Amino acid sequence: MSQITDEISRRRTFAIISHPDAGKTTLTEKLLLFGGAIHIAGAVKSNKIKKTATSDWMEIEKQRGISVATSVMGFNYGDYKINILDTPGHQDFAEDTYRTLTAVDSVIIVVDVAKGVEQQTRKLMEVCRMRNTPVIIFVNKLDREGRDPFEILDELESELKIAVRPLSWPINIGAKFKGVYNIFEKTLDLFTPNKQKVSERVEITDVNDPAIDEAVGDADAAKLREDLELIEGVYPEFDVNEYLDGKLAPVFFGSALNTFGVKELLDCFVQIAPSPRPIEAEERKVEPSEENFSGFVFKIHANMDPNHRSCIAFVKICSGKFERNAPYKHIRLGKILKFAAPTAFMAQKKNIVDEAFPGDIVGIPDTGNFKIGDTLTSGETLHYKGLPSFSPEMFKYIENTDPMKSKQLEKGVQQLMDEGVAQLFTNQFNGRKIIGTVGQLQFEVIQYRLLHEYGAQCRWEPISLYKACWIESDDQDALEAFKKRKHQFMATDREGRDVFLADSNYVLQMAQSDFPKIRFHFSSEF
Ligand code: G4P
Repeated sequence: MSQITDEISRRRTFAIISHPDAGKTTLTEKLLLFGGAIHIAGAVKSNKIKKTATSDWMEIEKQRGISVATSVMGFNYGDYKINILDTPGHQDFAEDTYRTLTAVDSVIIVVDVAKGVEQQTRKLMEVCRMRNTPVIIFVNKLDREGRDPFEILDELESELKIAVRPLSWPINIGAKFKGVYNIFEKTLDLFTPNKQKVSERVEITDVNDPAIDEAVGDADAAKLREDLELIEGVYPEFDVNEYLDGKLAPVFFGSALNTFGVKELLDCFVQIAPSPRPIEAEERKVEPSEENFSGFVFKIHANMDPNHRSCIAFVKICSGKFERNAPYKHIRLGKILKFAAPTAFMAQKKNIVDEAFPGDIVGIPDTGNFKIGDTLTSGETLHYKGLPSFSPEMFKYIENTDPMKSKQLEKGVQQLMDEGVAQLFTNQFNGRKIIGTVGQLQFEVIQYRLLHEYGAQCRWEPISLYKACWIESDDQDALEAFKKRKHQFMATDREGRDVFLADSNYVLQMAQSDFPKIRFHFSSEF
């Protein structure tokens, strides 16, 4: 095998996603522990902004700093090179998570055994489904009282709209939790609560081995055999291709806090999870093993130091070998750029790298050249498709409060939008600018950053909106008639596309029935 195909096939680039508090940070940390990237538990700080700190600016800044360090965590595990892409813990930054999902080849979803599928998990799974991203589910906190595992499986299937297949099975739960039988490898691990050490393994030949009865007691052993029989009867045999197509999610059970069931998850993950896959550009499908380099920017991180308005652009390498100082074409700008100090992320350290391969993420220091979604290539004109924007949940007019600084405000807003902090719409009726976000916290961050990084001051004015809908029609006259009738509620997004701002669900429904020739979309790509 050539160097490049060798490097590609050993890479696993993925994200861990969950509803806040299900255990994403804890699981990430334990995976790093196995990879030798960290040596003690507690080394990874949660990047979630604590619920109590929504107006504590220093806290937000601190958290942003931490999340740069943990944005990408690379480590070697056996022959594999693993890249975990971190996603923000706070729901208000869900857009960041959606975008990060464009840069991964697979996903691990963490679910709390007591809570089951929660709202954020459902939303993130929708994004995975749009891209047929393969997912593995880890049901966490088995050391606590929780729900019946069969019930959890049913819920996963119906709520996440994906077929499931358990590959491990818990023996009891909560105070009586005894361990996990690994269906994938036919092994038994006994649970000993311990935050750092790996569990104890019982040598068994198969599920009928009396060693199981000895280890967990007759009653639990009998129940395990009964459960496994039921599983074999109900769930079809695990088919790795169905998993790779995003149609079937293997499920593991364990306790991340106790480092239990985590190694089994990781060992199976490296075996079955995909290495970097071909990616669709607008022009054509690009294979990772192609000789020429290409990649795209999926995330931009502002510098912590407000005096230096530099950022780090995170580039996912899609094909070929990336080399330091090589001339690459920035497609949107039509410019050739060279990068002298690209960084890679290994074992929690940021180092300058000379080369990187598909599946890797490089951080490129930037002073305003990049926008989210930009493509870089060795020369060919390619445009990687990003993820569509979704309708924001909250809207506010942004108003300048310092007339002397209107330029700064405009520039600040523009750059923050390039970074993907929020969405900007311009009302066509009154020309006012509207910022749309997923949550309140984003407004606070924008206001703070505009002041500290751009010296611009703004205030928010309420606007009561329900949804922003991208509209289109095959009938140009119908489209114009709609825009005329709704002129007060028409806006454009940053690309100049028509957006209808519906102020209530009722208004939206009426518009849909009154204007059957108009198509209403809740995301910007259709
Ligand atoms: P998140 O990133 O998904 O938001 O979750 P995180 O890992 O921060 O975990 C949320 C809480 O759940 C933490 O407790 C963590 O210790 C706990 N936890 C994670 N895995 C397990 C598990 O397997 N069993 C049990 N019993 N608890 C688990 P916390 O009190 O909020 O935080 P901390 O003070 O312990 O850090």
